[in-house]
This record gives sequence, structure tokens and C-alpha cells, in this order.
Amino acid sequence: MRVGVLTGGGDCPGLNAVIRAVVRKGVKVHGFDFVGYRDGWKGPLEGLTMELGVQQCRGILPRGGTILGSSRTNPFKIDGGVEKIKENLARDGVDALVAIGGEDTLGVATKLAELGVDVVGVPKTIDNDLSGTDFTFGFDTAVNIATEAIDRLHTTAESHHRALVVEVMGRHAGWIALHAGIAGGANIVLIPEQPFDIEEVCRLVESRFESRYSPILVVSEGAVPKEGGDMTLVSGEKDAFGHVRLGGIGDRIAKEIEDRTGAEARAVVLGHIQRGGTPTAFDRWLASRFGIHAIDAVADGEFGTMMALRGTDIVRLPLIEGTGELKLVSPAEYAEAEVFFG
Ligand code: F6P
Repeated sequence: MRVGVLTGGGDCPGLNAVIRAVVRKGVKVHGFDFVGYRDGWKGPLEGLTMELGVQQCRGILPRGGTILGSSRTNPFKIDGGVEKIKENLARDGVDALVAIGGEDTLGVATKLAELGVDVVGVPKTIDNDLSGTDFTFGFDTAVNIATEAIDRLHTTAESHHRALVVEVMGRHAGWIALHAGIAGGANIVLIPEQPFDIEEVCRLVESRFESRYSPILVVSEGAVPKEGGDMTLVSGEKDAFGHVRLGGIGDRIAKEIEDRTGAEARAVVLGHIQRGGTPTAFDRWLASRFGIHAIDAVADGEFGTMMALRGTDIVRLPLIEGTGELKLVSPAEYAEAEVFFG
């Protein structure tokens, strides 16, 4: 059997570990051969291939990014896109695909599976917001990077008597902010699931200063003020690539803190640093196991499925279960962290 492999969406530490595991087990145990598709769904759409075998996977386990490249191309948004993919898969002699990606990439895989393409999905996102799986790889690395940044920022906050606002990734879900906020000893954590009251935030900032300590706030990029409050966001503006610009929520909050409390406040945006570099041991372990199980699913002919972590087991789920709804932080889980606020 000839298997195509692609990685789509934002890069994520652990992608190379999945590719390596898929190829190793595919070649050694199942006797498959592989073709790498470059740049996500753009690869099969435009026929962009690369050689992929055990040799190409040597030394990639600790490397961030993806040797296959990535993109956010969606063939369903392109005229004749799906037909073109089917044509190219047939031309390349590809019998099955392993698609490694987040909500968008696996969303495309779900629809292609319905249209008869033999595809198996592996969930990835640093945001950890894919339903169906307890964790996605990349998340642990992002949380560790954010936690280290918070640890380092405590000393600047204390030395300069400043409030420091650390903006972390998470467009729809606050998992990175919540986990790194707890691990880094943040005094306030703001997440998209719980719209914040800026007055309340400033009260917590003031009470922290009153106890002679400087506050650290961890804010998801998708955090939003409560409706009807007196802080509004200029958002929704799209850049040349169609990405929505949220307008730097961390910086907005820092300014509000200065205006309302008179204390000095600075914002630090961690951005893509959270997605770069070497994956943690946990992410390498999870990504490798996802890869092994994905190629086993191909060998078993269980297409239209995705791998998921349930407890310590890797299970196969229908793709639709992983892409249907986002996994969000529950009010109860957020409330647990509140004991550390202020
Ligand atoms: O989906 C992961 C993610 O890291 C989000 O948290 C973030 O909003 C987005 O990707 C950024 O994507 P890009 O690199 O395309 O700007």
C-alpha cells in the first residue's frame, strides 16, 4: 500500500514525531511505502510531493515545525478542489492518506472521507481545543514555554512595581492561559470562555499592589470584555491573509490598568514562540503514539477515523467527533484557579 502524509494548519511541536512514527511503523511492520505531501492540503491539491521514507525521518524527532511544511489551504473553498485532490492521489498511486492537523485540516479530512477518500486523522494543536481527545500534542510544550516566560517576568514585575500582562495563544479556548497561569503563579487569568469585567480586573490588580506584590496577568489572545461593560474592543479587522486581528488584547488591558489604577503596566505577547522549537518529552511521546496508532488504523482499513487520547489509551474515533465542537474550559475548571487570583 502507498500512503500519503500531510501536515496542515499552524505548526506545532511534535509534528515531526508523528511523521517519523507513521513512516517507521508503516515501513517496518506493514511494508507500506510513502509519499510526503507538502504544505497541508495544498500538496495533494497542486501535486506538491516529496520523498518520504525512514531515511528522511532520521534526526527529526526533537525538531520543531514540520519537514512536510504546512498551510491553511482548504480545497473545499477552491473551485474543483476536491476533484483535483482525487486526481492527484490517483496519479501518485496513493491508496490512503494520513492527515495531521487541527480543526480546519481534520474538518477537510472529515468531508473528504464522506466523499470516499481513504483518510485517517491525527489531532494537533497547541490550543488543546479539539474535542474527543484528552490532550493534543504541542500543548504541553506551549504551556512549558509560557510558564517559563511567566517565571521570568515575576522578577521584572517585582523590581519595577509594574503589572505585567502576558498574552498567550488561544483564539477560542483558554487552556494555555489556564494551565500556564496556574503553573506560573499568575494573579489573574483571563480566557475567551469567561468574558472579563475590566473594573474587577483592576480591583484585583490594586489589591495585589496593596499587599506589596506586583501582579502578573495571563491573558488568552481571544479573551473578551463582558458585554455592556465600559471597555470595548476594536476587532474583526482582517489582514491580507484573511486572519482576524484581535487588536492585541494584552496591550489593551495594560493600557486600561494604567488609566484606571495609575500603576505602570506592560504587556508581553508570546506569540509564535509558543509553537516553536523542540517538543517536550510528553509531546514527543504522545505524538509518537498517535503516529503508530494512525498507521495501524490505515492497515486495518479503519478510514474516516482519528486518533484520540483517553486516559492513557489511544483510541480511534469517527473524525466527526473530533471536529464537531471545540473543547472549552468549563466554568468549574476556571473557578478552581480563582483561589490564586488577586
Ligand atoms: O491554532 C493554533 C494557533 O496557535 C492559535 O492559538 C493562534 O490564534 C493561531 O494558531 C495563529 O495562527 P497563525 O500562525 O496562522 O497566525
